Amino acid sequence: MTSSTSNTSAAKAQIGVTGLAVMGSNIARNFARNGFVVALHNRSVGRTDALLAEHGGEGEFIRTETVPEFIEALESPRRVLIMVKAGEATDAVIEELAAAMDPGDIIIDGGNALYTDTIRREAALAKRGLHFVGAGISGGEEGALNGPAIMPGGPAESYRALGPMLEKISAQVDGTPCCTHIGPDGSGHFVKMVHNGIEYADMQLIAEAYQLLRTVLGLEPAEIADVFREWNAGDLESYLVEITAEVLAQVDAETGKPLVDVIVDSAEQKGTGRWTVKSALDLGVPVTGIGEAVFARALSGARDQRAAAQGLVAGTIEAPPVDRTAFIEDVRSALYASKVIAYAQGFDQISAGSDEYGWDVQPGALATIWRGGCIIRARFLDRIKDAYAADPDLPSLVLDPYFRGEVERSVEAWRRVVVAATCRGIPIPAFASSLSYYDGLRTERLPAALIQGLRDYFGAHTYERVDRSGHFHTLWSGDRTEVEV
Ligand code: 6PG
Repeated sequence: MTSSTSNTSAAKAQIGVTGLAVMGSNIARNFARNGFVVALHNRSVGRTDALLAEHGGEGEFIRTETVPEFIEALESPRRVLIMVKAGEATDAVIEELAAAMDPGDIIIDGGNALYTDTIRREAALAKRGLHFVGAGISGGEEGALNGPAIMPGGPAESYRALGPMLEKISAQVDGTPCCTHIGPDGSGHFVKMVHNGIEYADMQLIAEAYQLLRTVLGLEPAEIADVFREWNAGDLESYLVEITAEVLAQVDAETGKPLVDVIVDSAEQKGTGRWTVKSALDLGVPVTGIGEAVFARALSGARDQRAAAQGLVAGTIEAPPVDRTAFIEDVRSALYASKVIAYAQGFDQISAGSDEYGWDVQPGALATIWRGGCIIRARFLDRIKDAYAADPDLPSLVLDPYFRGEVERSVEAWRRVVVAATCRGIPIPAFASSLSYYDGLRTERLPAALIQGLRDYFGAHTYERVDRSGHFHTLWSGDRTEVEV
């Protein structure tokens, strides 16, 4: 360990990390463990000292107290990774750093920043000759330490100076780093946002599957843990399915009950799921799985309203009988098919965002780096990578031959699960809306024609005809003849 409060340390640092809460500390340690000299900075020096006291032997660190000292400790071009809570604090930290930096230096924001903030920050810093890289980092505390998935945006030039270091500390799958340059300005934070949206949908679907097995079959959490463990040995293999088994198997030491039964059933959210849905609304991309997941969390949190609604009539109707083994397999199929829909929608949003902002995000490259390190890592991502390799212009992931086959094979099971839940009054917003999306996608004539007719009736908004081009209006309050407009 090089531990210095002055700037006289012989070796300069290749990277500086400011913001040494758990994620920042772990990523700093990850850099050091990979042989990089790391300058450390935190607003209160206590955290810096704690890190050095506990982990200073893991590599070469340079201890700094002030921003000028921190900046001085870095080799040129300077690379500074900011790991502070997204929001206003980020602008203040950036400003303080930028004031002390030189043209060509690189500031990396590794927090979950809103991509429009990243676009704004990148433009402002570019004017001052500084490179700003909004980098999505996924994998939680453990990933930050042992290899996260990293999604850096920003100028391609900055990736040349930064990419090899990020690739070295990222997770590796089959020798390929889970890090690639996503595209210019806010693209890295945009794809991280959608990653989190997909994470919401994935978790909601898992939660619905759990609720179905528990309510319909009367399985105990420990039994459902076994089901998830089994599923994790097949196509559903993923980090979230794996840890679902862990959480469901956990017993509360105090009460002896399954932990899941003593946790309050209100899901919180920090905001990335909500951002994903807001952006999807602006882009006009239906991300129904993510939307339902965000709303389901909101409903779970409406505790007073839910308490007041207890006792509302369920109005259940007789459900077709279920066989335990067959039902478990149906739920597995419904989960897989719904998951395909959630990813298809998320990738649609990424492609729409990429078009809107001119980012040229490569969906295949993204699927490749999401195979490891990140929260949504899954065997399934290999299939997505292959799908985009076979056809980079795939109109929808659902239409890739492999996914199409899987969804078509699952669709009857999916309907049985939705029916089973609906008859019994079990809420399954993500399963049901994913199935409806699938039906909407494949339906040849949608009732949108009627909506167009209504819009034309009350607002003369016009419609297109199926038999010739142009825009038309019916004179609804006149003689009801049609005019071309
Ligand atoms: C990740 C996670 C990480 C964070 C979530 C939690 O990729 O490592 O997504 O970013 O744990 O943002 O989000 P919520 O608090 O909104 O569930």
